[in-house]
Amino acid sequence: MTTIKSVKARRVWDSRGNPTVEVDVTLANGVTGRGIAPAGASRGAREAIDLRDCGARLRGMDVQRALTSVNEIIAPVLVGRDVADQVGADRAMLELDPSPLKSTLGGNATVATSIALLQAAAAAENKHLWQHIADVYDRSASIPLPEIQIFGGGAHAGRRVDIQDFMIMVPGANSFDEVMEITSEVYFAAGDIMKQKGRLAGVADEGGWWPVFDSNEEALETLVAAIEKAGEKPGERVVISLDIAASEFGKDGKYRLALDDQSMDSAAFIDLLGRWIEAYPIASIEDPVGEDDPESMAEFTRRYGQRVQIIGDDYLVTNKALVEEAAAAGACNAVLIKVNQAGTISESVDTFLAAEKTGFRSVVSARSGETEDVTISHLATGLGCGQLKVGSFTRSERMAKWNECLRIQDILGPSAFVGGAPLAATWWGRKNSGDKS
Ligand code: PGA
Ligand code: ZN
Repeated sequence: MTTIKSVKARRVWDSRGNPTVEVDVTLANGVTGRGIAPAGASRGAREAIDLRDCGARLRGMDVQRALTSVNEIIAPVLVGRDVADQVGADRAMLELDPSPLKSTLGGNATVATSIALLQAAAAAENKHLWQHIADVYDRSASIPLPEIQIFGGGAHAGRRVDIQDFMIMVPGANSFDEVMEITSEVYFAAGDIMKQKGRLAGVADEGGWWPVFDSNEEALETLVAAIEKAGEKPGERVVISLDIAASEFGKDGKYRLALDDQSMDSAAFIDLLGRWIEAYPIASIEDPVGEDDPESMAEFTRRYGQRVQIIGDDYLVTNKALVEEAAAAGACNAVLIKVNQAGTISESVDTFLAAEKTGFRSVVSARSGETEDVTISHLATGLGCGQLKVGSFTRSERMAKWNECLRIQDILGPSAFVGGAPLAATWWGRKNSGDKS
């Protein structure tokens, strides 16, 4: 048994310059583990609450109350426990705050603590974090297929385009390293095209280009052009992935694309997405309809679920019960796993395991507000979940996570990269039999 000696929170700052919670867990043998809470901008209504101080200081964003949760409420309960008992520690935090959205302690307080505990437990065993996770949950580790943003939009780019993430995946790559290389070519090709056309305004919250397009579809056309300019045939090694984040512009079955000056009902919006799926090499779509529109999610999945991966993010908020409900209703066929939506590592893993049981695929994901914490690279690898989404191909809070996967690949070898296997049930998988060889 390795005893927890202290649990201490401090205020640090995230990639958007907002305060966030960092927790250090120190063990009796002197070993430490650290976790930092990320923060979303396009948040689901049912995800764990980030406890902020409100008021005038720091635009209401300070986290002193969450720091107090850790230092004065959580720490006394965790000190003296065995660090190896992650489930017990996470459960103890839940008992301190049984509110459905962790609004008493704050999801930012619980998630930073939960990550620090996981890191400390791995360090106590002198194991790589991915290895510790694979051992604890009895999983076979594998290096995930990334989703990488080329253009940012929605809440991450001043709503300059309505769709939030225009991403690529490289399921035809032979290694994680090759994914990085091809992505770099596509990213800069996209930048060059935009510069030439006078469409480049800068870089969005997750490091993707901040676009000045005349329509949402122009982003798709430019993405295809960028893939071609990078020397790739769209739909061969490289495919498109979209996060529509539809809850940001869809409510009560009405969807408003401000850039296109178009308002439509759910049926018309699904038709529009369907036309994009026909016209562009899209293999994955996240939150295609609003979180308040379950009939439309089921309808969208019925129509396109055999063809593309359909991920629930705001729609499922890393919640086990919501995943099981969606699976029963035939809505979505994949779930985004964001540890701070659930609020603890144990609940996130439970959601992942439940998703796997229902046949859903999983994508471990960062938030738009991130830090140097690279835990999720290890979580995706250790669980062997298959996919990882951490934003774009610039800014160190993003690159730190991709680079960590490269370090892991050095240990596990390129053959541990999953390649196109996670997209086996899509048109891309059927075309390529999902086999990377
Ligand atoms: P968020 O965006 O972190 O702002 O919620 C990420 C996403 O929607 O996937
Ligand atoms: Zn999303």
